[in-house]
Amino acid sequence: MKKDFLHVDDWDGETILAVLDLASRVKAKFAAREKYLPFEGLTLAMVFAKPSARTRISFETGFFRLGGHAIYLSPSDIEIGKREAIKDIARVIGRYNDILMARLFDHEHIIELARYASIPVINGLTDYNHPCQIMADIFSVLEHRGNLDDLKVAYIGDGNNIVHSWLRLATRLPMHFVCACPPGYEPDRDTVEKARSAGISTIEIVDDPGHAARDADVVYTDVWASMGKKHEFEERKKRFQGFTVTSELMALAKPEACFMHCLPAQRGVEVTDQVMESKASIIFDQAENRMHVQNAIMLKLLKKA
Ligand code: CP
Ligand code: NVA
Repeated sequence: MKKDFLHVDDWDGETILAVLDLASRVKAKFAAREKYLPFEGLTLAMVFAKPSARTRISFETGFFRLGGHAIYLSPSDIEIGKREAIKDIARVIGRYNDILMARLFDHEHIIELARYASIPVINGLTDYNHPCQIMADIFSVLEHRGNLDDLKVAYIGDGNNIVHSWLRLATRLPMHFVCACPPGYEPDRDTVEKARSAGISTIEIVDDPGHAARDADVVYTDVWASMGKKHEFEERKKRFQGFTVTSELMALAKPEACFMHCLPAQRGVEVTDQVMESKASIIFDQAENRMHVQNAIMLKLLKKA
């Protein structure tokens, strides 16, 4: 097994499902307030080059609740890629800590961190992907639906890091994944190609949200301008007209379909308030499940389960 977790498809389908199963057992222990301290005596370094609520809180709380100590390093502490060479800070952190989670801009930087760190490195989001989010998302789908059979996921909006992680998951678990985005905002072409050529999922990239949402089990969206692209928001707002997830769009999906969003959301932009607050919305389960799934990922990487 790989030392790090940088892409969801670093693991095969069997390992992904085993980690999801472990996450449900860890979640049950939390619910029962069972004493379970597998991370006792261990430290987690958390390096952030971008803002975060969920990623920081879920990693820090989860690691602490399982007996360990997590250290938050803000964008101005490490200044990744600026203050010193990545290969230096990677080896330094490896001398102090047992595991490292990083949220960075440049995807190449996390690959370099992992190459030089002697300890497991977890990707807490880069411009390219967000594997912990997608693990929590597929766990949430499984929890709500009971199975992943004949799953149709419709993603409406920007072809961003979340989409790349869905596409990479589709190389490991079979699904029908449709991304509806405005022309010019499609996901990375090589990642789409890889997902198609893996041959286990059906992949569509379209510009019609209605086509994507029809008979979907999941309707998913994310912000139109990700971190690092916020200055493009006004322009994107014009280009993304018609891509808001509304109740009318949700009505095209299956009656029992879930609405999902990784959060943070811009209510009234990529999704209406009504959809966010609807019965179909499982956004807060997704947020909670980040913690349980990440605990399972860390248990696996630290060989504690
Ligand atoms: N979904 C997610 O990663 O949220 P944060 O940016 O708040 O960590
Ligand atoms: N696509 C968003 C996800 C935030 C969790 C971003 O990168 O800002």
